Amino acid sequence: MQIRAAVLEEFGEPLVVQEVGLADPAPGEALVRLVACGVCHTDLYTASGVDPSGYAPTVLGHEGAGVVEAVGEGVKDLAVGDHVVTLFSPQCGECVHCLDPRTNLCMAIREQQGKGYLPDGTTRLHRGDEELRHFMGTSTFAEYTVMPEIALAKVSPEAELDRACLFACGLSTGLGAAMFTAKVQPGSTCVVFGAGMVGLGAVAGCRLQGAERILCVDLSEDRLELARGQGATETMVAGPDTVAEIVESTDGFGADYTFEATGNVQVMRQAVEAARMGWGLCTVAGVAGKGETLDIVPRLLITGRRVAGSSFGGVKGRDQVPQLVERYMRGEIDVDPFISHRISLDEVNRGFELMEAQDGIRSVIEFPA
Ligand SMILES: NC(=O)c1ccc[n+]([C@@H]2O[C@H](COP(=O)([O-])OP(=O)(O)OC[C@H]3O[C@@H](n4cnc5c(N)ncnc54)[C@H](O)[C@@H]3O)[C@@H](O)[C@H]2O)c1
Ligand SMILES: [Zn+2]
Ligand SMILES: [Zn+2]
Repeated sequence: MQIRAAVLEEFGEPLVVQEVGLADPAPGEALVRLVACGVCHTDLYTASGVDPSGYAPTVLGHEGAGVVEAVGEGVKDLAVGDHVVTLFSPQCGECVHCLDPRTNLCMAIREQQGKGYLPDGTTRLHRGDEELRHFMGTSTFAEYTVMPEIALAKVSPEAELDRACLFACGLSTGLGAAMFTAKVQPGSTCVVFGAGMVGLGAVAGCRLQGAERILCVDLSEDRLELARGQGATETMVAGPDTVAEIVESTDGFGADYTFEATGNVQVMRQAVEAARMGWGLCTVAGVAGKGETLDIVPRLLITGRRVAGSSFGGVKGRDQVPQLVERYMRGEIDVDPFISHRISLDEVNRGFELMEAQDGIRSVIEFPA
């Protein structure tokens, strides 16, 4: 079939929305009609050419939600009409990591996905004779996509897909960092550095876990306002004395849990230093630039602080994204304040501009039915 899609032709250049070819799903794959897709930093990071593992041409997009329109041979758990959220972090359910509760890093299709291919090492996207590679195994800046079944989370048919799409990346990453990586205990004190999509999700996750104090730190007053809406009990504008102020406000000890959601290694360091001696856990969710390192004074670790990284919030996608969406539907997660702009596929480059200008939290691309 022919579909419209936003193609990254050249790094550093605007995406070009155009017609491309999409082949039928192979065994184990499904054809999904996109209903909505968020525009995330990782799309911009790859488009800019800064990501060392990036490639072009490719169809970008990874924060998608839609409806299954066809399934390939052997697909067991999905049927035509199912509502799905796309997963750049799949869950095969069988590999050594899927069988272990300690990680969500499924091994099944990592290698091919990283190179831009579907699990059988080929692409479904093409333009004439030229193959077009898939991005993050998802390529959801498009009217339709073909993805492996193990990378699609089946969600309630009642969930509004223009909100559910945020669970495909940023929101689940933040929620999961608090719920699944840190496993915040009720009554604890939490500090979240950064109030973008990921940090705000972490604030909401701390609230859902029953934290008593949730302090959010950001440079922007507008974003701190959003953090209060998600359950932050205190907010602080970031400055040179941030760590000292946090330590002071926690009886000189630091917080039980800290979260870093900025991608800045200096802030990561602050998040470690603001964690409590004895048992404070710092969870790093931000993605640092290539070659950057995190400086930690070893004494902070000897005296009981711990550091954990979190990819996609530790969320095991097919099992847990539907559960998070259920909690949204029960009114426990307020998704609407995250959606600042609704745009069409043709306006995808405007989504990037808004993100660079820090105008709002998320632009969501809507596809007409
Ligand atoms: N681990 C994962 O799986 C995963 C998934 C998605 C995104 N990310 C990463 O998470 C990070 C956050 O993503 P986002 O979409 O929320 O980004 P964002 O740019 O919307 O938010 C970052 C926030 O950090 C704030 N900030 C900047 N410097 C600060 C400082 N010194 N102190 C306190 N706050 C500061 C900014 O004002 C902004 O509000 C990025 O690095 C992104 O690449 C990771
Ligand atoms: Zn993302
Ligand atoms: Zn697996």
